[in-house]
Amino acid sequence: MESPLLVTCALPYANGPLHFGHLVESVQADALVRFQRLRGRDVLFVCADDMHGTPIELNARKQGIAPEQFVEAIHASHVQDYAAFNISFDEFYKTHSPENEHYARLFFDRLKASGHVVARDLEQFFCEKDQRFLPDRFVRGACPKCSKPDQYGDVCENCNSTYAPTELKDPRCVLCATTPVRKKSRHQFVQLSHFADYLEKFVHSEARLQPEVRRFVDGWLAGGLSDWCISRDGPYFGFEIPGEAGKFFYVWLDAPIGYLSSTVHRVGDDVALKKYWSADSGADIWHFIGKDIIYFHTLFWPAMLHAAKLREPARVFVHGMLTVNGEKMSKSRGTFINASDYVRAGFDPEHLRYYLASLLGPSPEDIDFSLAGFRDRINGELNNNLGNFCNRALKFVAQNFEGRLAESFDSDADAQSLKKQVYDIFDHVSYKYEKLDLKGAMEALRDIGIAGNGYLQKRAPWSLIKTDRVAAHQAVSLAADVAKLICIGLTPIVPKLADELRRQLGIDRPLNWADRELDLRGARIGEPKALTTQIEAGTLEKLIAAPTASVAPTVPEIDYAQFESLDLRCGLIVAAERVPKADKLLKLSVDLGDAAPRTIAAGIAAAYEPAALVGKRVVVVANLKARAIRGIESRGMLLAASGGAGGLALAELPNDVAPGSKVK
Ligand code: MSP
Ligand code: ZN
Repeated sequence: MESPLLVTCALPYANGPLHFGHLVESVQADALVRFQRLRGRDVLFVCADDMHGTPIELNARKQGIAPEQFVEAIHASHVQDYAAFNISFDEFYKTHSPENEHYARLFFDRLKASGHVVARDLEQFFCEKDQRFLPDRFVRGACPKCSKPDQYGDVCENCNSTYAPTELKDPRCVLCATTPVRKKSRHQFVQLSHFADYLEKFVHSEARLQPEVRRFVDGWLAGGLSDWCISRDGPYFGFEIPGEAGKFFYVWLDAPIGYLSSTVHRVGDDVALKKYWSADSGADIWHFIGKDIIYFHTLFWPAMLHAAKLREPARVFVHGMLTVNGEKMSKSRGTFINASDYVRAGFDPEHLRYYLASLLGPSPEDIDFSLAGFRDRINGELNNNLGNFCNRALKFVAQNFEGRLAESFDSDADAQSLKKQVYDIFDHVSYKYEKLDLKGAMEALRDIGIAGNGYLQKRAPWSLIKTDRVAAHQAVSLAADVAKLICIGLTPIVPKLADELRRQLGIDRPLNWADRELDLRGARIGEPKALTTQIEAGTLEKLIAAPTASVAPTVPEIDYAQFESLDLRCGLIVAAERVPKADKLLKLSVDLGDAAPRTIAAGIAAAYEPAALVGKRVVVVANLKARAIRGIESRGMLLAASGGAGGLALAELPNDVAPGSKVK
């Protein structure tokens, strides 16, 4: 009996929708999981949403909802997107869960009990106004090296130098633009250097890491391992550290523990530990990750497992980053393609699975999604080479031989040689799948298609049938047998298409890898149909042309009089203040050229600091019916676009426009 296999994908942050980058990983892992299951291996495939951390906490705050509510909504969308792409997780759980909290404490206790944790004071920037410590990315200022203004607290985009946030000149809080102060706070550190010998061995064990990845990690080991700060100050969305009031576990402490707690959620504590996670379980644990999170998975996480006396991963398998048309995915260029946008636009999820899989080889090099490449592969390979071959053969059998395959189909030398060739290639497909090389497996599958097509072309059953009916029958029956190999080989990649092909081959149960041997002589096939569709020229472009700010749905046309009925005016903001207990709201006094300024309540507190608003000239809808908002009698509304740093940007007018001027 082969040992059980536990496979994980990195836990996506519950901070936004799934995009093509996430799908790279889940398609890769899912295809390899499906292959292993077809081979008869006992596989458990788990993942979860990574729900903690500062960005999530702040985004929830921006939306004016509790972080729990925020991450639950995103979780629901992730569940839906993974289902649309047929990712066959046995469990897709969450890190904000009782199981994960329990195990986070257990890891911390064991790390502490074995003497690997020290507490130390850390001096950081603190914003007095927001009453919070500011992580690197929440401080901006001038670069200490080149003086370029407005750089993040960790790295300068101008000269690429890295530094501590406290080195910035003229530092500012990203949230409110005030100058932060320095403040000390006590933090917990894992002394990673204690694990140097263990990690050295871990990294050099056979087949655990790809050679490129091992070289990377070797570099880190050689450079020495620094202590790892695993605590964060509140406010923080995470688990509070027992005995450390106001302190929370850093999101990267409890995130990988999510692999374990998701297993527990699925199979219970006993089985999760005995079968998979105890040091001597005998199971193989495979983590699929992108190359941006290697450090966490090859150093921090193995050290944590080692200290907790749990099972180390057998493989940490790293894929490269997905670029779109040769460039880094970018929101402003519209190349940040969401999984749900693709589905909603009517594209076939299996086409994307096929395309991504055909790019994913055994090495962690970056891969590129190009519209032309995508179309070529789907039309040229999946449609013409593989799909049409199967369809041609089965249709010929249906039309000329009453849907029955011949009783023998390798009687001549040509047939025998083709048969040997394709069965050999099929073994190569298996070999590539075993090596986690989807790209190689699919190249080999295409070679089967090419060989089959070549054979049909040469035997030309459509003319042969006029002179030698038996030979023609044998030729297309052998082609149907080749289609069986293609069907098995495609199952991990495009399970729905393969399932349809299986039905058309007249096989009435799910296939497994051993069905290479399935004897189709004399078999009755099902009804042949086209297996997939072409991608028409020009249709894919809309995936990328879509701007990032969600375009408002088309609103019905209005006539000129309706437009004229809007009284738009220039308003000068003369005062602004926060509204108690209303996070999003500001109370504004706006001069519209009348005797006295008006009060307007505006939901712009997340994007604008009150003080920064005074003196701005904005566009006001002046004839909007007055209404009460949180006890404020609000008369009018400001125009703003979604976008900008705070998610919202006011429409502003230049300084020489007088308050009250008509805007039309
Ligand atoms: N939450 C962490 C992982 C915690 S695992 C204990 C995280 N989340 S993520 O949402 O940013 O990324 C999840 C996975 O998707 C990572 O493996 C990451 O490498 C992968 N990808 C995200 N963008 C990607 C591309 N553009 N291309 C390929 N994979 C990328 O990191
Ligand atoms: Zn601040």
